[in-house]
Amino acid sequence: MAWAIIGGSGKLPLTGSFRAADLPESRYGSRSPGLLQGEVAGIEVWFLPRHGQPHALAPHLVNYRANVDTLWRLGVDGVIALNTVGGIAPAATAGSLHVPDQIIDYTWGREHTFSDEEQLLHVDFAEPLDHGVRRRLLAAGERAGIAASDGGVYGATQGPRFETVAEIERMARDGCDLVGMTGMPEAALAREAGLAYAMLSLVVNPAAGRADNPFDLDAIAAVAATGMEQVDDLLRTFFDAVALDAAALEGGQGR
Ligand code: HPA
Repeated sequence: MAWAIIGGSGKLPLTGSFRAADLPESRYGSRSPGLLQGEVAGIEVWFLPRHGQPHALAPHLVNYRANVDTLWRLGVDGVIALNTVGGIAPAATAGSLHVPDQIIDYTWGREHTFSDEEQLLHVDFAEPLDHGVRRRLLAAGERAGIAASDGGVYGATQGPRFETVAEIERMARDGCDLVGMTGMPEAALAREAGLAYAMLSLVVNPAAGRADNPFDLDAIAAVAATGMEQVDDLLRTFFDAVALDAAALEGGQGR
């Protein structure tokens, strides 16, 4: 089973020994530059930096269809999407990690489906984030001693500006716990492509109106740096467990 990590802002986790991958562009156009290929605990892992490398693409300019199509063509089964987010719920404090279980989409004008004149896809998106991958992420957090909270609603906004206080108040009334700019249409496209996709979200700032100075860029960078080290540890533990399961499965099949 091959896995992919879609990286967000901040330092790339895990990829120290990865190499650049050469692959033709997707029929949907250019994917984010900087696709990497590697192995973690003997498991095939692809790394796609969502904003390109170096970080340049704004959230509304990411070609989500090309990115997801690339992973599908690579034969990836499971996807871990990393994202940095603002905290809306009281428990979503700066530095906390979350494995959301729901999404509300406030984005607009993005290419959001693989449906076209040739195929009409009405996918079931009631539970937008894959339970199996979520469970594995939460188990890895527990094993690594890294707190990651189970569940929560991710609200996807258009960006690249941050939200107004009234927008965050509305999102809170809607039930959003976290706010980010990249979860959609990525998650829906992954579902259309049949990829098991879940998010690991790092809160890097309180959302607008949730603190006196929520957008202190130096503070955000510091929280992101420490948080990404935790993400790195959690992901190593994640792939150790995937490798053990794969070995157990092979042993079982051999008997
Ligand atoms: N809003 C939207 N996206 C974000 C935020 C935020 O406050 N912080 C990090 N990504």
